[in-house]
Amino acid sequence: MTVTIERNGDIAIVTIDNPPVNALSQAVRQDLWNAAETLDADPSVRAVVLICDGRTFIAGADVNEFGKPPMPPHLPDLVARIETAAKPWVAAIHGSALGGGFEVALGCRFRIAVPSASVGLPEVRLGIVPGAGGTVRLPRLIGPALATEMVTTGTPVAAQKARSQGLIDAVVEGDLEKGAIDFARSAIDQSLPLPLRQRGVPAVDATFWETTSKAVATRARREDAPLRALACVRKAAEADFETAMAFERQTFLELRGSPQAAALRHVFFTERAAPRPPELAGVEPRKIRSAAVIGGGTMGAGIAAALRDAGLPVTLVERDEAAVERGLSNLRSIFEGSLKRGKISPDVAAERLAGVTGTTDYSQLSATDLVIEAVFEDLDVKREVFSRLSTVCRADAVLATNTSYLNPEQIAAGIRHPERFLGLHFFSPAHVMKLLEIVPTAHTAPATLATGFALARMLNKIPVRAGICDGFIGNRILKVTRAQAERLLLAGATPQAVDAAMRSFGLPMGPFEAQDLGGLDIAAFQRKAARARGETPFAPIAERLCALERFGQKSGGGWYDYAKGDRTPRHSDIVADIIAGEARETPQREWDEASIIDCIVLPMVNEATKILNEKVALRAEDIDLVEIHGYGFPRWRGGLMHYAEGRGLAEIAARLDEFAANGLAEPPCNHFENIGREREIPLEKGSN
Ligand code: 3HC
Ligand code: NAI
Repeated sequence: MTVTIERNGDIAIVTIDNPPVNALSQAVRQDLWNAAETLDADPSVRAVVLICDGRTFIAGADVNEFGKPPMPPHLPDLVARIETAAKPWVAAIHGSALGGGFEVALGCRFRIAVPSASVGLPEVRLGIVPGAGGTVRLPRLIGPALATEMVTTGTPVAAQKARSQGLIDAVVEGDLEKGAIDFARSAIDQSLPLPLRQRGVPAVDATFWETTSKAVATRARREDAPLRALACVRKAAEADFETAMAFERQTFLELRGSPQAAALRHVFFTERAAPRPPELAGVEPRKIRSAAVIGGGTMGAGIAAALRDAGLPVTLVERDEAAVERGLSNLRSIFEGSLKRGKISPDVAAERLAGVTGTTDYSQLSATDLVIEAVFEDLDVKREVFSRLSTVCRADAVLATNTSYLNPEQIAAGIRHPERFLGLHFFSPAHVMKLLEIVPTAHTAPATLATGFALARMLNKIPVRAGICDGFIGNRILKVTRAQAERLLLAGATPQAVDAAMRSFGLPMGPFEAQDLGGLDIAAFQRKAARARGETPFAPIAERLCALERFGQKSGGGWYDYAKGDRTPRHSDIVADIIAGEARETPQREWDEASIIDCIVLPMVNEATKILNEKVALRAEDIDLVEIHGYGFPRWRGGLMHYAEGRGLAEIAARLDEFAANGLAEPPCNHFENIGREREIPLEKGSN
């Protein structure tokens, strides 16, 4: 049994116990249905409290059932059964009431929650819309504007805010079950509110739907579900309850089988599996109770902020007192930014900053559990730092480098206890970006590696294990993206056309806009280092721009021109002339959007396949996560390799052959059919 019934006088307590998150499996639905029947038939029951065991209230429909034929009782019927029960039900919420879980709560006459709880309809994040009346009941409860915000973004609302918006009726301190019983007992002595199905939807301004539709479309970047969710809320406002319910259900069923929903489900499960890779099962991570960061620049300050956000005390070590002050001031700016955006209160901001000690004295690290180095990208400087750390720190303290391109083996060469060393490659801004590449050396102990993954869990990041090569997983693929973008310019495309095509593919920015934002100088520095190693990096046009000190927005121009104080990219005659000059020898052709996308994305797939074959990445899923969380690859496409499988590897190999024949890309790599999925997925054979 997943559901039990107990009694407290005339109040019945219905408890769901379906670990891990009380998802609404068929068994739970059936048991709840039976409970409603039993309690309706019992004249001694005057009200019902619905509560959950374990870490959370109902987290939603059971996503594992999505690929299977729907089984009765269907969720919309169950919600209606509870809503029309002879006695009022009170949902008592802890943890999260999400998706179908919140829809069940909307079927209850009352909702109360503990202060730490949140409620929401996150279905759009799975490529679907609520399927059990969420879009129909919610506007009846809080009006179409707030309902639209909730269902189109999927963002959950915390208890206090939910109370002020009318999503819940009370926030209870102390024991939830007792609070719910008291609430139910006092509620039945007063006149009951109408069930939501009997309430009307408040009117909205005549222009509301059109304005909102434009805003949602822009934000959704070609993702279907948000606009479909908006259409459902609109139907709820304009049609009767039953018509709106039928419309929502139809939309839900259509989307559930869509490729976008399949991609988003893939990402959902992949993200949840990432922090616990099977090869580290049973390996105990080291305890992390304190941390230090060496270097308080862009990355060091961001990493320190992320560590503080997770509650760790942080020591920030810099070269001299002035640099300590700059580092602390960088951190202050980060917390002030979070404060301005309403993410933290002034008290929390002060407490976060107070938990950081700035120093130039390495001996203060003698008891620290974890040290992350983020000093200049210079092998000698980094080696000097680690040689000091390896003498000062405890033998079991974990030592990590945040290098982007240097070889961690060389950085760690000669340190004491190399088994405690690894790479932890954060992405900028480090307190915001979710991706963390974890890079073991040949000496890294399993416990050290497991500590990297445990740290990612503490910091709420998505960890991916990466092997050692130039750029690890993400930046190595990025190099191909940029090289392809330049090849396109040489072959007749414009920066505007390339950027527009990649935005249309679903990226937040095209490759040239992104370089102008981040600055062209970092990549120029990498190319210089690569040339010093005897390599020949390909960036003929970027080199010319850097020679003119066109480093992007910060220097007033890069791939585009910028007016002072305006970030709008504008056509640059200088850049057009440089491209024309560099392209003299290359045959020119017309480029449509689809060909531009192929010429960039398919070589990325090719590089990623090499990365898998070389075991720099262990799984195709890891590459999906790297691209989504490090580089803005559209989540609804499921990541780079999920996209590749959808396109078909044989087709991709053939397209790559075509590009290669015209000097526009490398040919597909050997073993192209092996993209390293953990789960069995039927693959088409590649062309070679
Ligand atoms: N169905 C099935 N399994 C689920 C699930 C769901 N809805 N939600 C979470 N799980 C599983 C996870 O896969 C994971 O399994 P594992 O331990 O085997 O890896 C386990 O529960 C724990 O999940 P997390 O690691 O995410 O645990 P957290 O404590 O960090 O987070 C949570 C808990 C906030 C509930 C988070 O899991 C979450 O956001 N879940 C998704 C909620 C959601 O999207 N609900 C809507 C579903 S669609 C729907 O309801 C349609 C309806 O409108 C008809
Ligand atoms: P930065 O130049 O902003 O900061 C480096 C800081 O290190 C400076 O504050 C400097 O004073 C300090 N420092 C130098 N030598 C030191 C020493 N011996 N002891 C203590 N502090 C010292 O550089 P940034 O951008 O923060 O990069 C740091 C590291 O992070 C580099 O290895 C870089 O490759 C890597 N990285 C950078 C990313 C980025 O987007 N900027 C992204 C991911 C990694």
